[in-house]
Amino acid sequence: MRVAIAGGSSPTLGASIVCALLATHGRYVPIVLSREIDGRSSNELGPAYENVETRHVDYHSHESLVAALRDVDVVLSVLLVPGPEWVTTQVNLLRAAEVAGCRRFAPSEFALTSWAQTRVDILEAKNEVWRAVQASVDKGHIDAARFPCGMFMNYLGIGCPDESKRAEALAGFQEGPFLIHLDDHDSPWVEVPVRSDGTFPELTMTDIRDVGQFIVAALDLEEPWAGRDLGMAGDTLSFETLIALCQRHVERTIDIRRLTEQELQARLTSMPSHEFIARMECQLSLACAQDGSVVSPTLNQLCPVQPTTVEQYLELFWGSGPGKS
Ligand SMILES: NC(=O)c1ccc[n+]([C@@H]2O[C@H](COP(=O)([O-])OP(=O)(O)OC[C@H]3O[C@@H](n4cnc5c(N)ncnc54)[C@H](OP(=O)(O)O)[C@@H]3O)[C@@H](O)[C@H]2O)c1
Repeated sequence: MRVAIAGGSSPTLGASIVCALLATHGRYVPIVLSREIDGRSSNELGPAYENVETRHVDYHSHESLVAALRDVDVVLSVLLVPGPEWVTTQVNLLRAAEVAGCRRFAPSEFALTSWAQTRVDILEAKNEVWRAVQASVDKGHIDAARFPCGMFMNYLGIGCPDESKRAEALAGFQEGPFLIHLDDHDSPWVEVPVRSDGTFPELTMTDIRDVGQFIVAALDLEEPWAGRDLGMAGDTLSFETLIALCQRHVERTIDIRRLTEQELQARLTSMPSHEFIARMECQLSLACAQDGSVVSPTLNQLCPVQPTTVEQYLELFWGSGPGKS
């Protein structure tokens, strides 16, 4: 079964899904769709992509997309397209998948809950794409699901003290810290968006490497995806537990900075509208304070994947195993 991954060139989700598909030894064959890389230069992507076919696409050309999807069974998107093109690009991909006769489609989700996205200006685009996908499912044009996974666990790899483990801990992830700031080794701190009653909310986190395993399990499902949220959860834990687990591995006391919804709202109000990422983080924190950060583990319940827990992740990458410098 051929599985096309739009944005499969990315070192994070792209690499995770490609590796998991390759590990099925031909049961699923990955095909990377890319604007930048064509079939003859796929080794630009590194050894994991050796023998993986890449197809050049223009997301603004229906013909280009349909041609690239001609013999493909499933289309998965892990695209990240900044700005208004986010919706157009993925809806173009959906339309081409329908015309090419693809059986299943998944848009680029891999986030907190859909409710949380309604609270975040730049993530509402994901819900807009999903509405188009659901309409297509309702008309019987294609089967589809979206895959929320919570926060990437690999945020905990930022500041991993052992240089020899850091690349593996990050799994290609290159963003800066959010909420958890263990990279500040002298004075580590965690920002906790507290609920209105002052208690700490819960958070779902999934290791990027486990996303590929979950996707293979979803492909194995014989029942239709049927326009469902097939959420995956590496772990769901309270901020108290998360901080206690982190505290085992950092020498200094973690400073816990509680933020109420009112404080977050005031911070948001003072932010200029062009500070997209800062505003997104603030709005995500607000959603977290209202429990929008817990993903229903639907896919966990349907499949045998045993994902990495936060405790295991921290032990692996922050523990005092061989090579800790
Ligand atoms: N849950 C979390 O904690 C978390 C954190 C970060 C991201 N995410 C989500 O994960 C998904 C992937 O994010 P990412 O950071 O891994 O993505 P990324 O590496 O920045 O981009 C993925 C791919 O998108 C393609 N792309 C980039 N700009 C494009 C454009 N203007 N038009 C068309 N294609 C473009 C590129 O492929 P080519 O150049 O080969 O075409 C790229 O390899 C997104 O849905 C994002 O929201 C989740």
